[in-house]
Amino acid sequence: MARQRVLTGITTTGTPHLGNYVGAIRPAIAASRDSSIDSFFFMADYHALIKCQDPALVRQSSKEIAATWLALGLDTEQALFYRQSDIPEIPELTWVLCCNAAKGLMNRAHAYKAAVQANEEAGEDPDFGITMGLFSYPVLMAADILMFNAHKIPVGRDQIQHVEMARDIAQRFNHNFAEVFTPPEAVVDDSVAVLRGLDGRKMSKSYNNTIPLFAGEKALRKSINKIKTNLLEPGEPKDPDDSTVFQVWAAFASADETARMRAEFENGIAWGEAKKQLFELVNAELSPARERYQQLLDDPAHVEAVLQRGAERAREYSVPLMQRVREAVGIAPMR
Ligand code: TRP
Repeated sequence: MARQRVLTGITTTGTPHLGNYVGAIRPAIAASRDSSIDSFFFMADYHALIKCQDPALVRQSSKEIAATWLALGLDTEQALFYRQSDIPEIPELTWVLCCNAAKGLMNRAHAYKAAVQANEEAGEDPDFGITMGLFSYPVLMAADILMFNAHKIPVGRDQIQHVEMARDIAQRFNHNFAEVFTPPEAVVDDSVAVLRGLDGRKMSKSYNNTIPLFAGEKALRKSINKIKTNLLEPGEPKDPDDSTVFQVWAAFASADETARMRAEFENGIAWGEAKKQLFELVNAELSPARERYQQLLDDPAHVEAVLQRGAERAREYSVPLMQRVREAVGIAPMR
């Protein structure tokens, strides 16, 4: 059997937070060190343009995301780490796939449907504010995946549909032209925590309830102090399973430390004390990486060189694949 290829993209909008770290970055970095699989990680900056038309923000977010992944120890010798926009074959493949993917399939995409529905509810034209980029988003994502014939795509639940669309697009192309693509599969890891944010809802930039990953010690302490708790006094038993403080604790602590904190909750630990311990735990895990993160932000030439090396390696796959695709659809030199 061919080696398993695992691929995932990170949209370059926003600054990474603790929820991204626990839910996506940490497990991906662990996977990047597994020499029995081939991992592909890339910064989806063309995807960023769909949501964000502010060039400074896209630029800044790309820098922060690259520095974050490298600072946290992404193994770029083992794994491929590149920027989507450095692989011109990706938009090229997107077009070919656009000419193949059914429009009706795209009509069913959740993100697009939600935008149409929001317009209808607001009494707007259904297409109001909807770009071709938003509509074609799943085709660009299919190109990302199919370009490298990836088998497994680790994603959050909201992305399963897109991977299934990529699968559909691959099968249709293979059927119509030639067996070029591997139909990919989404993998959702239920064992990684979906972290709760300051207000107890899922930690998400859109809820404005995040704890930033590398905001500095003071900011981290301040943020943790803002986690919403109830009014139980010190000495009153507290329910760990109903507490964001405890949930974040469990995402960072060993099994033994988690059991100890559970007992502390039952013994009525004060909220202030629990938060103080939480800060120390999280800070200990993050502070070495935070220092590297700052160094990387100060050395963009180094980060750029790492990305260029990644792009070079990625294009060893994408150039020949695109060649096969062109041949398959009848775009070839005259012979
Ligand atoms: N759309 C994904 C997200 O918003 C990011 C992404 C882009 C991606 N291309 C991908 C994920 C390919 C997996 C595979 O999370």
